[in-house]
Amino acid sequence: MDFTSPAFIADPYPVYSQLRQAGPLHSLMPGLWLATRYRVADAILRDARFGKDYLSGVARRYGPERSQNPVFATVNRFLLLMNPPEHTRLRALVSKAFGVKQAAELRRLTETAADRLIGDFYRDGRADLAAAFAYPLPMAVICALMGIRADDAQLFQQESQALVKVFELTPLNDADLKAAESAASTFATYFGDILASRRRRPCDGLVSLMLKAEEGQDRLTEKEIIANTTLLFMAGHETTANMIGNALLALFRHPEQLARLRDDWSLLPQAVNEALRYDSSVHLAARVALQDLDVDGVAVAKGDTVYINLGAANRDPEVFPDPDSFRIDRAATANPLSFGGGAHYCLGARLARIELETALAALLQRLPGLRLENLEAPVWRATTTVRGLESLWATWNP
Ligand code: HEM
Repeated sequence: MDFTSPAFIADPYPVYSQLRQAGPLHSLMPGLWLATRYRVADAILRDARFGKDYLSGVARRYGPERSQNPVFATVNRFLLLMNPPEHTRLRALVSKAFGVKQAAELRRLTETAADRLIGDFYRDGRADLAAAFAYPLPMAVICALMGIRADDAQLFQQESQALVKVFELTPLNDADLKAAESAASTFATYFGDILASRRRRPCDGLVSLMLKAEEGQDRLTEKEIIANTTLLFMAGHETTANMIGNALLALFRHPEQLARLRDDWSLLPQAVNEALRYDSSVHLAARVALQDLDVDGVAVAKGDTVYINLGAANRDPEVFPDPDSFRIDRAATANPLSFGGGAHYCLGARLARIELETALAALLQRLPGLRLENLEAPVWRATTTVRGLESLWATWNP
């Protein structure tokens, strides 16, 4: 199974369908499995007999020498890859910081950023909406929440895209691995400096909050704080930026659904939910068996890694009738798994939904006659864990 072929990248869903029909778990290599059925995926996400052990999966896929690259040790400090009790402690802390702002305040923050961005390119009548809008919008919001300057952060888009590749299923080639290592070190310097300045002068925002915890009884080490500010920065914009593009593409490829939305804006939250199900921007999450287990009749040994294919689970006909059709008023038969489930359920899900609703409403309502170029053969990023478009050229009538 070639998960890097251009045909797969352009449309992975026919392959997902074959895998789902073939069995509950697909063996990728000894000790590595892929789960594609909704019920199996959902059950594993919620099962405490599965946990995280990122480095063992890395060792298996990269071999003893390449897995020593320091980028993997940095990434392993991400909240996303921790187990209880460290995970519970850090997650409680970060959730508290997220909980500080009410939904209405997050929406206002996002709307203001969207207005400003559209104001910058409106008169041009043509723009790459990925670069001019989908990336900078969630970036502006996460920077405001973290208490860092969005102008600085815009510089790190390339680094962010390089680092997120460490979650790819297929091992990175030497050049990509080097780029990820260098990105991690750029972030360590940047957030290290911010940390030093927050130590001198605490202010609002997640960075100062994490620092306070470091000063408490249960100290977070400097390395942990730096790794997790990097995670929040990256998770806070890569995922949503790609999802804005995927949602717009789905709507423009289904003009009758777009027309329904334009007729009835109360369908917007459902349209966002359906876009998340139909073509999510995060396709894989990983878990490691903490003991020998039976998964729907398949023996999984302690230490084996199971990759949970969220994108495939979201198209499972057992749970979503006629799963390959995009219908913004689809009856709610189950929640899409786009934000995962269980203990690691996405901390930014509420924010992401607000950002997606705001982004779609702003683009569709403020750009008259909006049309996407390249609807038939858009250029996808050559990645399988994160799914998104390289660019999103569009025209309108200013
Ligand atoms: C459409 C946008 C988004 C998607 C599709 C998405 C998807 C996911 C998924 C699938 C997970 C769980 C991974 C696992 O179980 O291994 C996750 C976790 C996480 N997400 Fe998101 N996410 C999005 C937006 C955001 C935003 C905006 C933020 C931050 C502001 C964020 C922060 C996080 C964090 C911190 C975790 C780790 C939680 C933990 O391990 O306890 N995400 N996300």
